[in-house]
Amino acid sequence: MALREEGIPGLLVTQREVSGTVVKDAASGTVFRRSRREVGRRMLRQRFNVGVVGAGYVGLVTAACLSHIGHEVTCLDRNEERVADLKEGRIPIYEPHLEELVSECSSQGRLQFTTDLAGVAQRADILFIAVDTPQAQDGSADLSSVKAVAQSVGQALAKIGTKRDHPLVVVNKSTVPVGSGDYVSMLIEEGASEEGNGAVDYQVVSNPEFLREGSALYDSLFPDRIVLGSDEREALDTMRALYRPILEQTFPAPIDPRPKIAVPFITTDLASAEMIKYAANAFLATKISFINEVSTICELVGADVGSVAHGMGLDERIGSRFLSAGIGWGGSCFPKDVSALRSIAREYDHAPLMLDAAVAVNECQRKRVIAKLQRELHTLKGKRIALLGLAFKPNTDDLRDAPSLEIAKALDHYGARVVAYDPVASKKALGGLVPELRVVFDPYEALSGARAAVVVTEWDEVRALDLQKAASLMKKPAVLVDGRNALDPGKVRAAGIRYRGFGRG
Ligand code: NAD
Ligand code: UGA
Repeated sequence: MALREEGIPGLLVTQREVSGTVVKDAASGTVFRRSRREVGRRMLRQRFNVGVVGAGYVGLVTAACLSHIGHEVTCLDRNEERVADLKEGRIPIYEPHLEELVSECSSQGRLQFTTDLAGVAQRADILFIAVDTPQAQDGSADLSSVKAVAQSVGQALAKIGTKRDHPLVVVNKSTVPVGSGDYVSMLIEEGASEEGNGAVDYQVVSNPEFLREGSALYDSLFPDRIVLGSDEREALDTMRALYRPILEQTFPAPIDPRPKIAVPFITTDLASAEMIKYAANAFLATKISFINEVSTICELVGADVGSVAHGMGLDERIGSRFLSAGIGWGGSCFPKDVSALRSIAREYDHAPLMLDAAVAVNECQRKRVIAKLQRELHTLKGKRIALLGLAFKPNTDDLRDAPSLEIAKALDHYGARVVAYDPVASKKALGGLVPELRVVFDPYEALSGARAAVVVTEWDEVRALDLQKAASLMKKPAVLVDGRNALDPGKVRAAGIRYRGFGRG
């Protein structure tokens, strides 16, 4: 296929030359073309009927943002309780500003919630798949949720046959291994065949998501880029029209608007779009592991990793973001996505040496917390230790693969009594994620009687601790291991608490 240039001035974007208007009858294999006029008419339409499958961190944010920019959105989930809550305006996750945006869009009638996948798939112009793709036992991505959705979409489309006046654009927003676009197509067609009808009208697109938890609305409305992969030109055009208000930054900005600049729209083939997502996450995780490796060497030679990161980061080729040293990366995505990419490489008999090293460094960072505590307290048995922060990063309640849980388990294993505080995630952590972990709702309650404290999550509430009060409540000699280099070592020491950071002090 020939490549051609496209789009935004100053930016070289390549796109495969694709036919765009092909409709295929999966049963008979017949291929026919849709009229150009019909396609053109739809492209001019500004408002689309959008379905979003999965009302989690990504699905809910996507649904709310697409609704905010003017589309009619139905967000659906198989979890009936979650859908019932959303209908009542209760948001199942903590994400800043999301509740307000969902409430605004719902009250204007542009955002609905349901459990009826078939109905949504039959009516929608565009259907996003934003379901979970967790890490399987063998380290690969578990695609069972994606599979269930794709098969149901095939069955739903088969029931209406060729009654649609345009193909359903099925957009994969879940993070999935290379080749999943074709896998989704196959499952849609298999689902349709099960219903005895092969004439299903759909096009598959990969649209990887780059939002960060804690700043998800900002990242979705003001993205660095939008990436689309498909072999169908028509589907890419539909997606461009869907995202136009974001690409041109013409929507009413509900939060923190940044200067209006055109957002790069990158179109590519399916496999490359899927690979961009894994490569981006793996690079960011590796960047953090790199600075963590440097931080360990800083400790050995007596350098300060904060100054080193600052001096490195001002080089534009390096960039200053994601150079914060500490206990390392966790969360619902970096660990599983790096693991999935390593697993993909191994499928092709390639040893992903750099990714293996990034993971090894990350595992070391957690162990270094324990080592620092042991150096100060000697035995941890019978010592009360406060964990300040549980969420894998500030501004989220997400505890999936949170470093806090690993650290709590290790401390528990060594016989310490662990008491944890988090301004938002404490409630979620009450569910017994780590046996013997005591969870409290006040940082000073966690610190009371503790010999040591570990800063696990750099929440504002943790940064703003009253250190004098903390020192007065802790057992002497008190020690603080700052897993995020978030506190001022001088101030901690001035309060009478020993300070141990990462690559500093
Ligand atoms: P999540 O677990 O918060 O939400 C997934 C939702 O999908 C759940 O509510 C679940 O009930 C629903 N679901 C699962 N199977 C379903 C089915 N068959 N029918 C209907 N609903 C179904 O997951 P998430 O964090 O939103 O992540 C979704 C995907 O996006 C993952 O692939 C993830 O890697 C990717 N991603 C996540 C983030 C993030 O910050 N969380 C960022 C970028 C990409
Ligand atoms: C990350 C990516 O940043 C998003 O672009 C991506 O969409 C998302 O994963 C995903 O695929 O789910 P997220 O996991 O929400 O987003 O959070 P990050 O801000 O990237 O932080 C990840 C982890 O790295 C956290 O545990 C954080 O504490 C840690 N981190 C981050 C550091 O240890 N040092 C840093 O300098 C930055």
